[in-house]
Amino acid sequence: MPSTELVFVALGSNLGDRRAHLEAARRKLANLPNTSVLAESAIEKTKPLGPIPQGKYLNQMLLLRTELPPNEVLEAGLEAEMEAGRVRAERWGPRTLDVDLVRFGDRVIREPHLTVPHPELPNRPFWLRELAELLLSVNGHGLPEWARVGASRRNHIRRVAALVEAWGMAMSREPDERARWVRAAFLHDALRDAPEDELARLADRKWDVSGLYHGPAAARLAEEHGETDTGVLDAVRYHSVGYARWDDVGRMLYLADYLEPGRSFKRKKRAALAARVPRKPRGVLERVARKRMTKSQENQGRVIPEEVEFWNHLVGSS
Ligand SMILES: [Fe+2]
Repeated sequence: MPSTELVFVALGSNLGDRRAHLEAARRKLANLPNTSVLAESAIEKTKPLGPIPQGKYLNQMLLLRTELPPNEVLEAGLEAEMEAGRVRAERWGPRTLDVDLVRFGDRVIREPHLTVPHPELPNRPFWLRELAELLLSVNGHGLPEWARVGASRRNHIRRVAALVEAWGMAMSREPDERARWVRAAFLHDALRDAPEDELARLADRKWDVSGLYHGPAAARLAEEHGETDTGVLDAVRYHSVGYARWDDVGRMLYLADYLEPGRSFKRKKRAALAARVPRKPRGVLERVARKRMTKSQENQGRVIPEEVEFWNHLVGSS
């Protein structure tokens, strides 16, 4: 049996009937043999890139499942561009239709006519947003069976998981590493809606601060249920406070928990920070840690030792 791959395809248009061009490209790709469209992102409007004055773009990303090799999908994309009447002129010029292969499974292809993952993925905030949106729509829930969460918490957890996965893809991290990030995301708030006294007991009253027990409690149950990855467990245990000895799992979870798009405060600022993570994880981490710590001091009335160590580690080693 031929292998199937998940393929992310970005569409863009800023000339003519933009919606019709996107629609034609979607149809073209959906009609490829042994290929189906699993999900479509919302269509979003973006400002053109580069120096040439031109109209706004409509962008959309599709998630395909296909048995075809990259060249055949690429070919279909080029045909769709031609049919939309695209003339390949200036590099940054306006275009009726642009079809880009953003990712093709986990393949790394460096050929003159095709580079995947697309080298611009980490640099385009709208691609990152669309990628996370698509992942959110296709990923099932990876909550442990012992989870105690209500519907809105479940959605928060899923958005965090989609965001860390999108970052991992944009940063070209290995599938195993991305899987650790996603696992930590699904564990971190898995007990968030359990009764406080139960959490305090599971957490051995760690820090003795109400509202902070769910991390240590979830880490404990995760370990009891077979999670052996210390990085994942520490990510979950310390996700509310920070931890100096975190590896990337803890850092990415800490960032995504704060920057996921469903939270209602400072949406624009947080979205801009989220888009910067793949290129400048370290800089964003410092910004987010500063914000989160100020907030937790207000809420808790005191600072947890791990928070202090984390902060000293961040500013000390930059
Ligand atoms: Fe959370």
